[in-house]
Amino acid sequence: QVAAASGHTVVLVDQSDEILKKSAKGIEESLKRVTKKKFADKPEAGAEFIEKTLKNLTTSTDAAAVVHSTDLVIEAIVENLEVKNELFKRLDKFAPDHTIFASNTSSLQITNLANSTTRQDRFGGLHFFNPVPMMKLVEVIKTPMTSQKTFESLMDFSKAVGKSPVSCKDTPGFIVNRLLVPYMMEAVRLFERGDASKEDIDVAMKLGAGYPMGPFELLDYVGLDTSKYIIDGWHSLEPNNPLFAPSPLLNKLVAEKKLGKKTGEGFYKYK
Ligand code: 3HC
Repeated sequence: QVAAASGHTVVLVDQSDEILKKSAKGIEESLKRVTKKKFADKPEAGAEFIEKTLKNLTTSTDAAAVVHSTDLVIEAIVENLEVKNELFKRLDKFAPDHTIFASNTSSLQITNLANSTTRQDRFGGLHFFNPVPMMKLVEVIKTPMTSQKTFESLMDFSKAVGKSPVSCKDTPGFIVNRLLVPYMMEAVRLFERGDASKEDIDVAMKLGAGYPMGPFELLDYVGLDTSKYIIDGWHSLEPNNPLFAPSPLLNKLVAEKKLGKKTGEGFYKYK
């Protein structure tokens, strides 16, 4: 959405037409929200902006077939190293030489993803934040193999889509998640110990620390499955780090398919 809205030609790829239809609808609704604010007193210019943006956006279920005309691939699939590597390995065969590959991974090492391809110098991290149309930040990750040219292209692209990039080394969680995920897990542990209710913890962090959402609201918003993937991955890297300890409550909710806002229930119910 943000790439198309800033004039880039975008092909959105997913596994089925059904998912793509749902995504296209979500983008249209999100564009309406953005437009309502941006063009508050110019509804015609707003309608034109939506039309122009949607013209820049097509969809496909066949990544290998569309990658031949791409300058930049941004992968944002399931947070699983093997699945991501399988995709990158396949795309590496079909993409032109100059094409830069980037991952939006929240927690996996970019180096481990780059190593599944033959273009380690044209590979980096491009990490966006939910909700992407609103959050101004992008983390740009340079591995020891990422070329300076690739890094600069990723910084320039981030600015061209209207974001403020920051850079970080290829370390677990980069900047934001390295601080945010242990904080959210600490909130779950506080609740698990029975020290405070989740409602009070959320109110406390909103009114006492000025956060726009409390940790439980944010966990539900990000997705409990994503949060669990992140913490499980880091726990396997550093089993003795108490900040990365798994949470029985989070595991239970994920096992019950209560994944947060997207499934209608997580820590809270959404109906
Ligand atoms: N698309 C377009 N616009 C959106 C939107 C979306 N998906 N979601 C919200 N908005 C817009 C609304 O239209 C609204 O615009 P308005 O001011 O003109 O009415 C504006 O955002 C504010 O929305 P709301 O009034 O509905 O609600 P809030 O004021 O509570 O703001 C929020 C919503 C921007 C989501 C705010 O609560 C927030 O900043 N929350 C924290 C989000 C956060 O921490 N994100 C990081 C998560 S971590 C992550 O993503 C990393 C990953 O790797 C795990």
